[in-house]
Amino acid sequence: MSTRRGVPSRDGPAGPDMDQVIFRSDTVLSEIHLLLPNTRHLMTRLNDVGQPVFVSRYKILKDFEESKPGDSAASATNADEKEEEAVGRGGGGEEEERESREECRSECGVSVDEDGDLDVVRRPRDSAPLERGVEGRDMICPIILTQGDGAPSEGEEDPGEEEECCGDVIRIEHTMATPLEDVGKQVWRGAFLLADFILSQPMLFRGATVLELGAGTGITSVVAATLAKTVYCTDVGQDLLSMCERNVTLNRHLLDSAGGQVKVRSLDWLGDDFSTETGAEFSWTEEEVADLHDNTTLLIGADVCYDEELTNGMFRTLYRITSNLRHPSAVYISIEKRLNFTLRHMDISCEAYDHFRRCLDDLRDMDDGKTKFTVEPVPAQFPQRFHYERIEQLELWKITASPL
Ligand SMILES: C[S@@+](CC[C@H](N)C(=O)[O-])C[C@H]1O[C@@H](n2cnc3c(N)ncnc32)[C@H](O)[C@@H]1O
Repeated sequence: MSTRRGVPSRDGPAGPDMDQVIFRSDTVLSEIHLLLPNTRHLMTRLNDVGQPVFVSRYKILKDFEESKPGDSAASATNADEKEEEAVGRGGGGEEEERESREECRSECGVSVDEDGDLDVVRRPRDSAPLERGVEGRDMICPIILTQGDGAPSEGEEDPGEEEECCGDVIRIEHTMATPLEDVGKQVWRGAFLLADFILSQPMLFRGATVLELGAGTGITSVVAATLAKTVYCTDVGQDLLSMCERNVTLNRHLLDSAGGQVKVRSLDWLGDDFSTETGAEFSWTEEEVADLHDNTTLLIGADVCYDEELTNGMFRTLYRITSNLRHPSAVYISIEKRLNFTLRHMDISCEAYDHFRRCLDDLRDMDDGKTKFTVEPVPAQFPQRFHYERIEQLELWKITASPL
């Protein structure tokens, strides 16, 4: 996560006082989106809470064209595919950049300069008076390049559909540079590490019932459903779950051909059960809860441990669910150890990671007479099937839960 401090705000009625400046929010930007070439920064719509939404395409590499571990987004090149809009494609030389500018100009009716910035023709300052705002300033009128008000429904024409149906390309709607409470609207490197692992284990995932916790945009669930029978893709928040549902619809070409289904459902780690409120969007039916308990053998979570309280809630949820499953289960959690210098430690450390490791130890040592847990790291030696930088701070952990 790249962290950018938000605008400082001041609390209290006393008015401005520089001693009381508090940074109220952090804005974070995933490295996945940070490295997206400028020419790809095309906003498609504003979501219900007014955030710009972007669409990125991620190509699932075939085994023979796998990205070497350590491939960075900036260095990856593989020039002959249209699906190169995937994150992780950058730098392909002047020719590629020129082609991509041309492509952008013809697809969107806009032109971009050699750095990928929009070429804007300035409107004369004394243009129509209605377009002038207060104090004679020009009003800003954002241009949305393409706009849609809902996920493409069955049978609805989708501009990229023809191309997608043929390729192993995942299209994901996401936002960029969100406050911490909205991090699920971005794609994180841990999602790709976990997706790589899933694709490296077809025998394990094929036909399985899988539960994903903290699925965010849903990209890992979509990958899992190319093998699994059912993936319960869970997170919290109406807005996020709607985006996730749109992403499942956008990728139905991958799911239809594999026969897997993704069910987007609400599951709050800070709550204490499945929400089965009748008629509420993203709530569970009794049949789904029963199916989950009867058939789930795999649980997954990508980059879900970044805050101590939430991590505690996530582990409580894991414990509660795995102890109630009919079959033994395996849980795979990816985590990125984000190192920072802290005055408290006078050294670089990652408190969220340390807390995660403590939670793993607690689970392993738990003796409730009902379930036995084991914990082990999974070496990241499986092939890289997406273009991203698989840094050494990215880790995958496996927990097994066996009824006693
Ligand atoms: C860093 S994001 C990771 C998203 C996605 N797995 C990925 O790797 O791209 C962490 C996710 O945890 C989810 N989350 C945070 N608090 C939660 C809670 N109380 N219950 C369920 N999910 C939560 C967020 O909404 C977000 O989607």
